[in-house]
Amino acid sequence: MNFPQRRLRRLRRTPALRRLVAETRLGVDDLVAPLFVREGIDEPQPIGSLPGVVQHTRTSLRTEVAELAERGIGSVILFGIPETKDAEGSGAWDPDGIVQKALADLRDDHGDDMVLIADLCVDEYTDHGHCGIVGSDGQVDNDATLELYARAALAQAEAGADIVAPSGMMDGQVMVIRDTLDEEGYDQTAILAYSAKYASALYGPFRDAVDVTIAGGGDRKGYQQDWRNAREGLEEIRADIAEGADMVMVKPALSYLDIIVRARAEFDVPIAAYHVSGEYSMVRAAAANGWIDGDEVALEQITAIKRAGADLILTYFARDLAEALS
Ligand code: PBG
Repeated sequence: MNFPQRRLRRLRRTPALRRLVAETRLGVDDLVAPLFVREGIDEPQPIGSLPGVVQHTRTSLRTEVAELAERGIGSVILFGIPETKDAEGSGAWDPDGIVQKALADLRDDHGDDMVLIADLCVDEYTDHGHCGIVGSDGQVDNDATLELYARAALAQAEAGADIVAPSGMMDGQVMVIRDTLDEEGYDQTAILAYSAKYASALYGPFRDAVDVTIAGGGDRKGYQQDWRNAREGLEEIRADIAEGADMVMVKPALSYLDIIVRARAEFDVPIAAYHVSGEYSMVRAAAANGWIDGDEVALEQITAIKRAGADLILTYFARDLAEALS
């Protein structure tokens, strides 16, 4: 029998043929490793719900980043866990805050060879766990919070961040951060905006990683996006680009591939996608039970995010993938 569709299988016959016609090539350059650094500990602390990921000491963070660099990873994003938390999250902009110190360490170690991204938010640093100042009505006060973000951006830029990544979903955050950085002489510090960031239950393990419990059993649905909305995600991205974002992010990744596809079609700035803690932990948990091949699923999922149109992918699999891809 002869029919034109015969070609569909012909090119799948051998690994070499498949490699020749692969449309998507995941490489180590696509990956950003998210890392946690905690103040006041002497030993790295494992995170129960994020197997294989730890809260680093300043010293173990340096070792980890050196090892990532050896494996070809060119970029990391840092999250800090302070020793003490307060209502405003002052550790986020304290020049001696843990992330600021870690940024300076890593800049010393790597010069310009490693792209250092700082997550810019206050939830890891506030005692109530919200991403900003909580007003008397119980809502996060947008404009009062912007002042905190401006301080944090400045502290991170001073400490050596190449890129600050505001993740708090306040309106106007990119504009305020851009203005502040420019006024203070940090016009070369870039902004990666967590633009289409959904109020996802997939952030659960991350909150364990940064010791965050939202006060009163609350959630972030008053500022993060409703996952029923796609057009709104594009509107968020459009606003952030207009305010001066150099790159934009879609987060989480796999349940939002439609947003990545549409953003890729509509915008020409680099698009990042965050394969978040819950996405990672689900794979690890199923693999630990022997239900799936975790390494294969990781490669499939992260490649799918690239196929959808992401230019860079933040993933807790970065180190494993760097080894698998080399
Ligand atoms: C906020 C922030 C969060 C994540 C990244 N930045 C948590 C949240 O919004 O509740 C989640 C990342 C993940 O789940 O891996 N600072």
